[in-house]
Amino acid sequence: MSLPAPSPDHTALVTGTSSGIGTEIARELARRGQNVTLVARSEAKLVVLAAELADCGVRADVLATDLADPAARAKLASRVEELGLSVSILVNNAGLSTMGPVRRADADSELHMIEVDVAAVTDLCTRFLPGMVERQSGAILNVASTAAFQPIPGQAGYGAAKAFVLSYTRALAGELRGTGVTATALCPGPVETGFGAAAGITQTEAEAALPSFMWEPADAVARCGLDALAAGRTVAIPGKANRAVALLATLTPKQLLVPFLASRHPSLRK
Ligand SMILES: NC(=O)c1ccc[n+]([C@@H]2O[C@H](COP(=O)([O-])OP(=O)(O)OC[C@H]3O[C@@H](n4cnc5c(N)ncnc54)[C@H](OP(=O)(O)O)[C@@H]3O)[C@@H](O)[C@H]2O)c1
Repeated sequence: MSLPAPSPDHTALVTGTSSGIGTEIARELARRGQNVTLVARSEAKLVVLAAELADCGVRADVLATDLADPAARAKLASRVEELGLSVSILVNNAGLSTMGPVRRADADSELHMIEVDVAAVTDLCTRFLPGMVERQSGAILNVASTAAFQPIPGQAGYGAAKAFVLSYTRALAGELRGTGVTATALCPGPVETGFGAAAGITQTEAEAALPSFMWEPADAVARCGLDALAAGRTVAIPGKANRAVALLATLTPKQLLVPFLASRHPSLRK
């Protein structure tokens, strides 16, 4: 097993590349010789990253897109085609979390999160997978989270969204056996990126809730995901501590685990 061989008319389309884990995944793919197509809303940041990646000798294209907009998502495949490219690697990384109890949540914000974290993942997999299967070569990396392994009081929608991504990717991997296409779910624990600030939580609050041994740097998370994708592994959890926590979360009865998590979540203590 390995990543699809780099080719001048193929690209790795990576969402959420204007920041954090997505930027590092794009950098690591470029280091591995893959052309990259950068997708997020912040076009200026994508243009800067594309210039950096072009220095690695790969082709880097920018397709600024709001992934919460179904019409914009629907146009992505034809925009890639207009560039003369086929998507050989798809990385659904863009994502965000709301924070706080559902009883105080804003319905539009919750649905916006579901559009990006769930609908966009489903949409892009559905649109780009048939071409990969036809070419008998391709790889899909969906970024879930260790939040996928148990309900998260204080981030109920986010935990459920990532559980969707994990389950969906595992099913996809099962369907794809023998097709030449693989699917991997990357499940990071905490990573210092723009994610906490976008969710309205400070780094100090996040570090108080999640012990230091669980935190992994974004570049190590990116390498872990791409190594697993190249090896054809279905699930990748960066860091020994996060693998242990995910196993514990899977095995612990939820009637014990959920009240414990509710008592510790910073947004429920405010
Ligand atoms: N950081 C963590 O602790 C952690 C842990 C586990 C899993 N994850 C997952 O890792 C992934 C990357 O998160 P990160 O930590 O790197 O966070 P980040 O630094 O906040 O990056 C999020 C990326 O998603 C993009 N994005 C958000 N909304 C979008 C939209 N409507 N349309 C297009 N792009 C959108 C952002 O770009 P624009 O704002 O420019 O659109 C940005 O590039 C997410 O799926 C997250 O759930 C993160």
